[in-house]
Amino acid sequence: MARPARSYVKGRGLCKEVLIRFMIGYAPAGFQNLSTFLKKKGYTERELVDWGLLAEKNGRSYDKFRDRIMFPILNHVGDTVGFSGRVLNKDDQPKYLNSPETPVYHKSETVFGLFQAKEEIRKAGFAIIVEGNVDILSSHQAGIGNIVAPLGTALTSSQLKLIKRYTDTVYFAFDSDAAGEKSSDQKDWSLQKKEGMHVRAIDIGDFQDVDELIQKGGNWEQTVADAEPVIDQIMKRLKKRTDMTTAEGKDDYVNGILTYISRLGSDVRKAHYISLLSEQVGVDQQTLKKLLDRSGTEPAPFEERVPGREPARQVKTTRTDLLLATIISHPEYAETSKAETGTEVFTAQQNRIMQEFFAAGADAAADRLAGDDLEYYQMLALLPVEHISDKHLYTQTLQSLVRTVHKEVIREKIREVRFANLDESEKEHTLNELITRLASLG
Ligand code: UTP
Ligand code: MN
Repeated sequence: MARPARSYVKGRGLCKEVLIRFMIGYAPAGFQNLSTFLKKKGYTERELVDWGLLAEKNGRSYDKFRDRIMFPILNHVGDTVGFSGRVLNKDDQPKYLNSPETPVYHKSETVFGLFQAKEEIRKAGFAIIVEGNVDILSSHQAGIGNIVAPLGTALTSSQLKLIKRYTDTVYFAFDSDAAGEKSSDQKDWSLQKKEGMHVRAIDIGDFQDVDELIQKGGNWEQTVADAEPVIDQIMKRLKKRTDMTTAEGKDDYVNGILTYISRLGSDVRKAHYISLLSEQVGVDQQTLKKLLDRSGTEPAPFEERVPGREPARQVKTTRTDLLLATIISHPEYAETSKAETGTEVFTAQQNRIMQEFFAAGADAAADRLAGDDLEYYQMLALLPVEHISDKHLYTQTLQSLVRTVHKEVIREKIREVRFANLDESEKEHTLNELITRLASLG
């Protein structure tokens, strides 16, 4: 490894053994180093471009990875199938440059670190899932090797299936910075449903990520051992961003948490969280149980559209939320989703989110959204929705959801018109029209 790279990894506290285990290297600055080297070995320019090692512009090719720390990406049997190159200088962009999709490298079907982790995963009985490549190196150095990352995207079903070959239990450790919070990885929590896995959440406290926790002397082993049920972490996070001193805040919090409690498999667990919730908000358990029963059978209440209070409405799950969550968690069917949904039943915010998602995909959408839109998007990504892998079934499910949402929107309009200050004949006309539309939806 060349000097600037050596001093960089040393500065990050990484030891030689781990660098060797992960075959970390350095791509020097300059445009023709790798190109010249590999052409001498007999590779053609075409091949090198196809494998994503050279980039091409105006008919000229040059090294794609320049002045970067190189992380080889191995498949689970140990072949190098791609590279992830990190800048040395924190201001350079993009932070990581990754190999493109090639015949041997499919990002969504590759798990970074799995090859080095698989034996440890078997031994430990669970896999830790983090966001960053560097987190993995630091963790190995700290003696915990059952750790993998999904290469910067939200964890996919294919990735989880690979992990499932070695264990049926995963612990998530999300970054606590803004990027980690917004990461659509939060939807990974719902994957337990999809793939039937056991899931726990690791709380890294105020450290930015696992790497920082380790480098600053936090007790990583203990932190992992303290992993908690996902719902506990959801409670903590939601509590943090809700004003629990007001009735309104408590209401939002209770509604938000009940959605998750209602999805718990066991009655004992439900009772446990009802009692916890009761203590937290000072509302008796009977009342909460009644609310819980209702939240299980009735459709979620239609959202209140209070101007200027967008964030508060986020904790009530509506049918529209479920529709959007379903769309977001099926990026592979984005085209179908786009064709089936339309825009008229959505709020301006919902349309903004959909637009970003359709234009940029799930992960890039999270990067492009900000403020309330981002917070809402995160909430959607957190909703546990079933993953459907059959396209035909997906289309049917989506159509039925769209129909339900349409109906709900029309019902709400009917309520509005009933109480609106209109003259009777106009009211009747509008109502008739709405009722006809409702009927046509079946
Ligand atoms: P992070 O920004 O958390 O990176 O992105 P990191 O690996 O923890 O690096 P440090 O600790 O800041 O040095 C998490 C993962 O997202 C992917 C990479 O796989 C990275 O490890 N990523 C990030 C990209 O693919 N491209 C980027 O521009 C940034
Ligand atoms: Mn990081």
